[in-house]
Amino acid sequence: MTGKLKNKTMKSIATRITLIVTLAMVTALGVDAQDGKALFTTKCAACHSAGSNKLVGPGLAGVNEKRTQEWLLSWIKDSQAFIKTGDKDANAIFEEFNKIAMIPFTDMSDAEIIAILDYIKGDGGTVATASTTEPVVPVAPIEYAAEDVEMGKQLFTGKKHLTNGGPLCMTCHNVTNNEITPGGLLAKDLTNVYERLGDAGISGILNAPPFPAMTAAYGNNQLTVDEVRQLTAFFKYANQVSKTQTVNSGFSLLAGGGVVGLILILILISILWSNRKKESTKKDIFRRQLKGNDSIES
Ligand code: HEC
Ligand code: HEC
Repeated sequence: MTGKLKNKTMKSIATRITLIVTLAMVTALGVDAQDGKALFTTKCAACHSAGSNKLVGPGLAGVNEKRTQEWLLSWIKDSQAFIKTGDKDANAIFEEFNKIAMIPFTDMSDAEIIAILDYIKGDGGTVATASTTEPVVPVAPIEYAAEDVEMGKQLFTGKKHLTNGGPLCMTCHNVTNNEITPGGLLAKDLTNVYERLGDAGISGILNAPPFPAMTAAYGNNQLTVDEVRQLTAFFKYANQVSKTQTVNSGFSLLAGGGVVGLILILILISILWSNRKKESTKKDIFRRQLKGNDSIES
């Protein structure tokens, strides 16, 4: 009787040890394979070069020398919260970039952020080589043909389908323009996005969207090079003519589409939400397993 029980307990302990070891190995592998360059490319390159070129945000060459690691970790995890603590440098850089809010990276571990910072320190370009560093993100052409504007408009509104699928931009974004119907208010209004981000910023974001909602929508439905150019052309045009357009409420999906629009939006949110939840639960388990085992993390 006791022998049986003992056996059972031993078995369950063995199972647990196997589970913990497996999880630890998977996590350790993850940290090993974690490559600062790859992380930089997926999470930061839409808005930053690792050299000295300004994109949406400043070029990051030399930032390790300019700021302490503690400062950088606080900033990258949640720049808006950090700004609110009253940090002088954080407020200064926010003002300098016209109060464009950098999105928070609360999900990233210290180790991942440090891997990115090491990449910037090394290959990414030090202060000395910064001036010759190529921009990471391909810069879109500044002159656009009239067809580009027209095609971009059709892609934005869904009159023309995106080659690789994915939801309409208008589901989430509004652009105030008399030639199109108002779009959604789930995400930022894009009427003047060109003024804020310019060619490089917009094409960078469309090539590799750093926002969870857009990564979920287009991660597997990559926009083509032509589509990125055409959409950027449309945003440039919409910005140019915006002063003469009738201001609309950007509410058509809800007001015009009524119940159907609302249901579509709710379905969309629940899809995006369930994706996000899955991922963070997995990460939580990893984190719990890591607690008390610092040797793996460092
Ligand atoms: C959506 C665009 C965007 C993304 C994505 C982004 N940043 Fe930023 N970042 C900015 C902007 C804009 C600023 C300038 C300050 C401001 O306006 O908030 C900035 C500022 C910074 C600064 C401060 C630079 C200085 O001179 O003090 C650091 C460091 C930084 N970002 C690192 C990162 C890292 C690392 C990533 C990727 C994990 C990243 N950023 C992703 C937009 C972005
Ligand atoms: C599922 C909703 C959704 C869809 C669909 C979507 N976006 Fe976004 N987009 C967002 C979110 C969320 C942001 C982050 C800014 C915010 O919170 O509003 C964003 C940000 C952007 C930005 C940066 C805005 C800025 O000022 O920082 C651009 C440009 C953009 N989207 C373009 C597009 C284009 C073009 C399409 C269609 C190909 C599209 N989006 C489709 C949700 C969406």
